[in-house]
Amino acid sequence: LMVNRPPEKNCINITPPYTKLTQNLAFVQQKVLKCRPLSLAEKILYAHLCNPHEYDGGIVKGETYLKLKPDASAQMAILQFMLAEMPTTAVPTSIHCDHLIEAFQGAIKDVKAAEISNKEIFDFLQSAAEKYGIEFWKPGSGIIHQIVLENYAAPGGLMLGTDSHTPNAGGLGMVAIGVGGADAVDAMAGIPWELKAPNVIGIKLSGSLSKWASPKDVILNLTGKLTVRGGTGHILEYFGSGVDTLSCTGMATISNMGAEVGATTSVFPFNNSMYSYLTETRRHPVAKEALEHASYLKADNNVHYDQYIELNLSELEPHINGPFTPDLSTPLSKFAEVVAKNGWKDEVKAGLIGSCTNSSYQDMSRVVSLANQALDKGIQPKGEFFITPGSEQIRATMERDGQTRILEQVGGKILANACGPCIGQWKRTDTKENEENSILTSYNRNFRNRNDNNPKTMNFLASPEIVTAMIFAGKLSFNPMIDTLIDKDGKPFKFQSPHGDELPHQGFESGNKDLEPIITPGNSSIEITIPENSSRLQKLKPFSSWDGNEFKGMIVLIKVKGKCTTDHISAAGPWLKYKGHLENISNNTLIGALNADNEKVNVVRNILTGKDGNIPEVARYYKENNVPWIIIADHNYGEGSAREHAALQVRYLGCPLIISRSFARIHETNLKKQGVLPLIFKNEKDYELFSGGDIIETVGVVGLEPGKDVIVKVKKYGIDKEFEVVTKHTMSKDQIEWFKMGSALNLIANKQ
Ligand code: F3S
Repeated sequence: LMVNRPPEKNCINITPPYTKLTQNLAFVQQKVLKCRPLSLAEKILYAHLCNPHEYDGGIVKGETYLKLKPDASAQMAILQFMLAEMPTTAVPTSIHCDHLIEAFQGAIKDVKAAEISNKEIFDFLQSAAEKYGIEFWKPGSGIIHQIVLENYAAPGGLMLGTDSHTPNAGGLGMVAIGVGGADAVDAMAGIPWELKAPNVIGIKLSGSLSKWASPKDVILNLTGKLTVRGGTGHILEYFGSGVDTLSCTGMATISNMGAEVGATTSVFPFNNSMYSYLTETRRHPVAKEALEHASYLKADNNVHYDQYIELNLSELEPHINGPFTPDLSTPLSKFAEVVAKNGWKDEVKAGLIGSCTNSSYQDMSRVVSLANQALDKGIQPKGEFFITPGSEQIRATMERDGQTRILEQVGGKILANACGPCIGQWKRTDTKENEENSILTSYNRNFRNRNDNNPKTMNFLASPEIVTAMIFAGKLSFNPMIDTLIDKDGKPFKFQSPHGDELPHQGFESGNKDLEPIITPGNSSIEITIPENSSRLQKLKPFSSWDGNEFKGMIVLIKVKGKCTTDHISAAGPWLKYKGHLENISNNTLIGALNADNEKVNVVRNILTGKDGNIPEVARYYKENNVPWIIIADHNYGEGSAREHAALQVRYLGCPLIISRSFARIHETNLKKQGVLPLIFKNEKDYELFSGGDIIETVGVVGLEPGKDVIVKVKKYGIDKEFEVVTKHTMSKDQIEWFKMGSALNLIANKQ
């Protein structure tokens, strides 16, 4: 779900209101920031402040909350928007049906099967779109971020999307930020959207990519340097002569994966390749206006970045990242050594390319240059080779230009224009349950279980070119830059490095007219379709408000050990079908979390019965007995996606607060929005003192204020010991009101 279209424009050319934005920015820069040189990210954000006059006291990065006006899993966002009881959305909005198409028999059959199995969800979304005047992109039309890049993104704009890879649009010079559905509802309801002024990491690119190196390798390399937490509270801003050597879609790939380091977003300055991409995607007016406002669309001279990184593209080699975390980064030349050292089976079972991250025309034409060589030499993929086009426009252009034919001839299977295996929608038939195996993908995320629901699948991230070469070799240790394969005549064959066109010579093909968006003005008389007794859709009931007292008698349900992503808190794959039904999807709550007490996944002690059980079952037992429970978490709790179910579900099952060593940004905001209090250990070693079953009470929730600590009193489970720890929080004044009301939505509905 995206919120971005300025109301005054109703066609595909969406130009940000540059004159107004630059006037706003000039005021902030002169009056508030005393003419300090600004980074591009700051310029775009400050140009979108709702009321610049409110910031007389200055803006402190990392501290000041900015109230912004963006130029917003669809089911849950719409269900929440319904609670706001508004006739239409306040800003133009679009819905994309990309997460629910299972990869199995190929594009046409898979989309048909999804239309049948997900009928009630698609009908619900379409009826809501028609009621509220939201643009509706049907299943099979493409993946949200690719469609946005092709249709909506514009340099210098500010956009929110309910998916963590929304920053993809940074490749077109936009500040595009992933948020939860409740944040999107703010924008849809015309309420200022709040963001703590981020710091900015300046990344200077010099040189140019050559041979096998691709834009993907820029971000695979940086992810290794920054780690999954290194971008938290920061925007990644690229600059330097190397930027102008990249394609617009290559910059989108780099921006897309800034999400993997926890960055708020990533952004590139406006340049020629953005201009060309805008004109090739039939948006000449946007390109022309952006050119006229080019000085707004780049950083000021002499800007000071909060952190600084330099990368020489000429020296960059391909990288392979993984398994199980995107920041485990290995240069290709060292990868065979790593495979041997870890004793991994030297086999690649499947190669998957495309997705929202890497399905550009340039990606596909470079891959086809390799596929052509393999075809010529009679070499077949050694495992499944899947290609996911990001949109109908890409798919149709690939077909017209003969790319599809070559990929199919060489043994590839074209999947639907949808997320497919990237989000676990993969009916995999080439492995047995729990079989240890390795796959390579050009996707962006590789948490355990993510692609095929098999915890033993080792998933590695690489460029589409490297994935393709490796599936022809079928070996993890293969390095296409130096190693050879045996061709059909028994002779050694070495791939020539890939090459391809940035944009299609004949322009893009629009494709199937039936997949164009449905655009309606909104009609309040339309009934939103929610079938009686549906197991997949359920109207939300508002959460109850805070009772005004300190919390007492709360049980630690689980002390989570190590990485706990939104996939661990609310698993995807087969669970995606329940995304519109809070009660049913809550049966997956924390089933991937590792219990620090017993080193087991999804097993906790129910201290009311004294028996062990799975996490959702024990949480429900506590809820039914009116006993609140909490989570103790390690670093970066809630890393990964914008999946707000990870916040909604714990709230629904009776969790009023979570104490963590640190939180991932989007998840922390999602918790606040749903009325859950995220507390952070002041001394992170205090995490060690807790275990499951401990009984907790608070001092300081009554009279909660920004910057004021909350004391947590602990009575140990099973031993006679009591102690206190100090926690802090990042709640602003407005966010404390959400907590008091029970949720941010309750506050909106109350104001209505
Ligand atoms: Fe879809 Fe995967 Fe992108 S789930 S939106 S293709 S990150």
